[in-house]
Amino acid sequence: MTPAADDPSAHIARILSGYETAADDFVARTAGLPEGWPLDFLKRHVGTHSKPVLDVGAGSARDTRRLAQWSHAVTAVEPVPSLHRAGKQRCGTLPVRWADAALPTLRTRDSSLRPSSYRVIVVNGVWHHVPPEARETALRRLSQLLAPRGRLILSIRHGPTPAARPGFPVNRLSTLCMAGRHGLAPRSTHERPSLQAANLRLGVSWTWLVLERLSPPGRSSRRSRQPRRAGR
Ligand SMILES: C[S@@+](CC[C@H](N)C(=O)[O-])C[C@H]1O[C@@H](n2cnc3c(N)ncnc32)[C@H](O)[C@@H]1O
Repeated sequence: MTPAADDPSAHIARILSGYETAADDFVARTAGLPEGWPLDFLKRHVGTHSKPVLDVGAGSARDTRRLAQWSHAVTAVEPVPSLHRAGKQRCGTLPVRWADAALPTLRTRDSSLRPSSYRVIVVNGVWHHVPPEARETALRRLSQLLAPRGRLILSIRHGPTPAARPGFPVNRLSTLCMAGRHGLAPRSTHERPSLQAANLRLGVSWTWLVLERLSPPGRSSRRSRQPRRAGR
């Protein structure tokens, strides 16, 4: 993994260009992945009751397609043109909205990603690509897009990455602290080995975090409100 980034936007551009170059290979490889993890995990945490879900860094739409088949109103964000096209094709006629934007800001031309709109945001296989100095902005933005009590499902890759699509080290604890600063409380953590045999041999593993957006700061929820003192 790359030690530290000096200019986050240059690093992000290089990573996205690496995905563009390797898009065909990436699509073929992910199409061959077995069912099961992480789809059963997503199904458990997202549920099957229709709700607005945002899939950030959707790639070839492996998760997106399933989320839409489970009846969710899915918006897929994918900044790499070839993957964006492949993802759309894989979703066929499913009613998925597509956006072209990248972390950390997820800025779209038409401002179609609205604050407090999503019950669940999935960020699978993307976080290690976000340079460390851009992560605070990214978490602020993701938290802002979540509805109160909405959930962010964040997978974090550990271990070496291909030189053309570099990743940066991610520390679980500092990620949780940073998330806390943006009103995201941990609900569960899961450690998993890599699904791909070649990556497993290289020692790649994953942490999955499920984080819940608390009420906006300054507006205490009914549950956390202090009881009034008698006699006042
Ligand atoms: C390992 S793939 C994961 C794709 C998909 N989420 C999955 O699990 O199959 C990483 C994806 O993140 C996207 N990506 C990389 N950097 C990104 C960024 N800064 N913002 C949004 N997406 C990014 C890539 O284009 C690619 O589609």
